[in-house]
Amino acid sequence: MTTTTRLSFIHRFEPGADRDKPPLLLLHGTGGDENDLIDLGRMVAPDAALLSPRGKVLEGGMPRFFRRLAEGLFDEEDVRRRASELADFVAEARDAYGLPAPIALGFSNGANIAAATLLLHPEALAGAVLIRAMVPLSQPPAADLAGKPVLILSGAMDPMVSADNAARLAAQLHNAGADVQHRTLPAGHGLSQADVTLTRDFLTRR
Ligand code: MLT
Repeated sequence: MTTTTRLSFIHRFEPGADRDKPPLLLLHGTGGDENDLIDLGRMVAPDAALLSPRGKVLEGGMPRFFRRLAEGLFDEEDVRRRASELADFVAEARDAYGLPAPIALGFSNGANIAAATLLLHPEALAGAVLIRAMVPLSQPPAADLAGKPVLILSGAMDPMVSADNAARLAAQLHNAGADVQHRTLPAGHGLSQADVTLTRDFLTRR
């Protein structure tokens, strides 16, 4: 299916061959769009439905999912507002396409909005794969993420996300009850083959 403006986010929806597989909510990085992660989604979850919105915030013309004040410094009020909008979109899309709660697969800025949505609107997501994510909220709410599976994939040479920051995010999600696996790969901020393999293994078990 091609891009549609129906519903509250411009998005793509690709139906899945297996309705028992949780759909994937694909969340692109800065400068990406709804087309970016479709091929990755198909590689890691061949039979799942794919729901891929385009971030509504523009930074120098580049779509993002929330505003930042500088690299790594987030406008947290906007993070909260945008996570709420994304949770509303997920509810609309579930209704429109007849879907169960999706597992988010987010890269970079997309992983950060996925982490914020998990913490602020746990009901919106069945779990998440967070690739190169960092802490999106300095004061996270007391969320109940009991049993939700979360895979965090960090890069040992990532110039944007420190090991300490990624570990803090893992701890926040773990403390909220999520079933967190955190792996640090010999990679930078970009996607690597190991991200694909580990994500596919994680999703095969869902
Ligand atoms: C990015 O470039 O998107 C940053 O690393 C993460 C963010 O700003 O959310």
